[in-house]
Order: sequence, then structure tokens, then C-alpha cells
Amino acid sequence: MTPQHIELVKSTVPVLRENGVALTSYFYQRMLKNHPELKNVFNLDHQSTGRQPRALAAAVLAYAEHIENPSVLAKAIEHISTKHVSLDIQPEQYAIVGDNLLHSISEVLDVPMDSDLIAAWKEAYLQLADILIGAEKAKYETLATQNGGWAGWRAFTVDAIENTETGKIFTLTPKDQQDVVSANAGQFISVKVQVPNQELQQPQQFKFSQAQQNNQFVFEVQPEENHSEFSVANILIHHVNAGDTVQLTAPL
Ligand code: HEM
Repeated sequence: MTPQHIELVKSTVPVLRENGVALTSYFYQRMLKNHPELKNVFNLDHQSTGRQPRALAAAVLAYAEHIENPSVLAKAIEHISTKHVSLDIQPEQYAIVGDNLLHSISEVLDVPMDSDLIAAWKEAYLQLADILIGAEKAKYETLATQNGGWAGWRAFTVDAIENTETGKIFTLTPKDQQDVVSANAGQFISVKVQVPNQELQQPQQFKFSQAQQNNQFVFEVQPEENHSEFSVANILIHHVNAGDTVQLTAPL
């Protein structure tokens, strides 16, 4: 990036931050309208609370602020790339997010898409996207080479469901009946389920409270009150039965 581009990007961060809600709501509406397939990737229950929409745009702004010294954000990169890998985010999806983010910045700042300012933001975004794509590639490779590990989604069967005082314990085994990597307490997986009566799948993370072994995963799911129909926890509790199939990403 040229020093002028860096200056342009940095000088617009405060305005974009002030209009953070406008930026993020415009961004998500635009992206999910143009790419409805991404409704299967973003958890729509999280969208309704506004927590995640703010997180993505806030991360881009924070990065832009530290553009001359991105190492400041190493911890954030580690956190975001872990989350992305657990959701099987792919490099080609960065172009879609970038395009929609740049259009949203153009809209909020009221500057044309072919302006110098948007060109500068494009470079900033691509720089951040490259860092994340690289970090994610390394994680996918590590996951795939573990004994019993895999990258992306893998089909599991619900072997047993047991009621507890606080929720339900699910026991899952892989449909391919091959080995499954073990996991420590505190690690998490993503579970992707079909939303009842809708052409839609939804992912959500679940943390293990105990170490996992014996080629299976066992974890408790607790109901989520005041959540939308997209809550994966509630779908698991109310709609998923023994014998059903769900998709899982490997423990992280
Ligand atoms: C430079 C680009 C990107 C940045 C800075 C970014 C940043 C973030 C941040 C900060 C989070 C929240 C992490 C947390 O919950 O703790 C997040 C989550 C997420 N990101 Fe990204 N992201 C980027 C690109 C992408 C792309 C290309 C996709 C795929 C379409 C994507 C999909 C997601 C999803 C699905 C989540 C989880 C949302 C949920 O809670 O449902 N992100 N991202």
C-alpha cells in the first residue's frame, strides 16, 4: 500500500466506526441478499442479536487502524482464523465478503466505488484477507493430517440422546466408521443441522466439558431461551432424534 492509501484508510476509520451499525447492517443485508447460500454459513440466530455482525466489521476497522503494524493484531488473527476454520470458511468466500464490505463503505461514506478511497480500502481488505486465508490454510492442513482428523464437515450419526437436569447429552459417531481424533476438555466443535421445515442449514459451536476419546463425541446441549428458530442448541434438543445425521467440524 502507498503511504497515501494508508492515510486515506486511517482517516476514514473514525467515521465508519461512528456509523458502525449502518455499516454492518447494510453489509449483511446486501451480502445475504446477493448470496443467499451464505445463510447456511452465518448463524442467523447470532445475526438477530447483532453480536457477530458487529464483530466482523469491527475487526476490519481495528485492522485498518493498525495497518502499518498488523502484528499488533496477531491475537485477533489467531482467534478469528480458529473460528473460521471451525466453520469451514473457504478462500473464495473472502471475495464475496470483500465486495460487499467495500460497497457498504462506499454507501456509508457516500463516495463512489471507483474513488481512490475505495481503492485504498480494497488494498487494506485484501491484505487482511491474505493473512487470514494463510492462517486458515495452515490450520486446515494440521487438522487433516491428525490421526482421525479431518478438514471441513464430516457426517456423524446421533447414536444416543440422554436427558439431564439441564439439557440433553448427545453421543455422536462418524458415519464413515473411521477413526476420530481425540479432544481435550475446553476444545470445541461446530455442529451443523437442518432447520426444520426450511431449506436451510445452521452451524453452532459446542464446547466439550470432558476429554473425548473412543472415536466418538459426547457433550451436553442446553436449551437457549428467547432465541430464534435458528438456535442449533434448540433444534438439537427439540427436533433431532437418535439415528439422525448431523455434520461436524473437527475439534479445535
Ligand atoms: C477480512 C475478512 C474477515 C474478517 C476481519 C472477519 C472477522 C470475523 C470476526 C471478528 C468474527 C467473530 C469471531 C467470534 O465470534 O469470536 C467472525 C466470525 C465469522 N466469520 Fe468472519 N471475518 C472475515 C471474513 C469472513 C468470510 C470470508 C466469511 C465467509 C463467508 C466469514 C464468516 C464468518 C462466520 C460464519 C463467522 C461466525 C459468525 C457466527 O457467529 O455465526 N468471515 N469473523
